[in-house]
Amino acid sequence: MPRTFARTDGVPASRPVMKIGSVQLTSPFVVAPMAGMTDSAFRRLVKRHGGCGLVVTEMVSSEGLVRGIDRTLEYAEYTEEERPVSIQIFGGDPEKMAAAAQVIEGLGADIVDVNMGCPVPKIAKHNAGCSLMREPEHAASVIGAMAKAVKIPVTVKMRAGWNDSCRNAPDLARRVQDAGAAAVTIHGRTAEQSYSGSADWSLVAGVAHDLSIPVLGSGDCIEPSQVIERLGSGVSGVLVGRGVLRNPWILAQAADLTAGRTPREVTLRDRGQFLVEYVDLLLAEGVNESDGFRHVAESRPREARGRERWVINKLRALCAWYSKGIDCGSHLRVRVNAATSIQELRDIIDEFFFRPESPVRYSYERAAEAL
Ligand SMILES: Cc1cc2nc3c(=O)[nH]c(=O)nc-3n(C[C@H](O)[C@H](O)[C@H](O)COP(=O)(O)O)c2cc1C
Repeated sequence: MPRTFARTDGVPASRPVMKIGSVQLTSPFVVAPMAGMTDSAFRRLVKRHGGCGLVVTEMVSSEGLVRGIDRTLEYAEYTEEERPVSIQIFGGDPEKMAAAAQVIEGLGADIVDVNMGCPVPKIAKHNAGCSLMREPEHAASVIGAMAKAVKIPVTVKMRAGWNDSCRNAPDLARRVQDAGAAAVTIHGRTAEQSYSGSADWSLVAGVAHDLSIPVLGSGDCIEPSQVIERLGSGVSGVLVGRGVLRNPWILAQAADLTAGRTPREVTLRDRGQFLVEYVDLLLAEGVNESDGFRHVAESRPREARGRERWVINKLRALCAWYSKGIDCGSHLRVRVNAATSIQELRDIIDEFFFRPESPVRYSYERAAEAL
């Protein structure tokens, strides 16, 4: 596999830097696409901590993009500081996917990624997501149509296969490469497995060995050392999903390890600060941003959204994962889930992260110890 060498973001000069088409990544560590989670605010915060070579948006409907649906276009928004940014789309119709790729290109994104991994019936039943893996010829025709329609790189994210008797990622990866894909990511589980069992990184490494385009791997990196270990398996890059929701510093820590440094320490205050900044960024979405900072589709009206409820729901969703890496995390989760206002959320964050000796937290710890 062709690799170039250059100085990277927190990664030493000897570490290969990946190119996806003409897009150069300064680190091989990537924020995985996660529906409902990897919104622009979250991506920006992870990026600011360093070590992140690429961010991928939540999956966006090709149908909605082509029809110019506001909600859909909102998912495809990104900000200048996230670059390089990959926008992931889903769908199964070659013409519509090609037209959607043109919308993404028009938005100025660096890469358009195709979801061939989503096992959720709502997506898969529309001949999209992982069900494309069951029709490899058709899947390749989708990529062929997109690659012809746009100049930006078209990439594919797939699973190991549909089920144990159809682990066809090696075949499909080759087909999409031949059809014009500039890179492939494989989450080493089947659709039937969903998130059970563990990701098959030897399958991913085998595909990386076979293909001439970059192959990235995804699955089960919770510790920074696992990210490094997986990179050593021969892939060009590693996507981190749930691990980055638990610990948004994991990519920076992996870059520290690659550079031969001790991974940076993350304090309780750092963790609290992350949530404070996340709330602030969500509240400020689209408000007083300088021209050219946020990339939106021309057709989308620019009103600020009514957002208190939306921000609370976003915090609840993140804390379901984020609380897993923290002492007394379930306490945080319960309290955030019960919060009904932004002020209440701020008070909870302040008490939990900035005043850990507070009576509420202390009594909870004592109660937990007594169990
Ligand atoms: C909440 C959640 C949402 C996800 N949404 C997407 C998605 O929109 N597109 C996609 O390709 N994969 C999606 N995935 C899969 C991840 O990108 C990743 O491949 C998978 O979680 C395995 O990696 P991990 O063990 O690092 O989480 C999602 C995973 C989670 C947990």
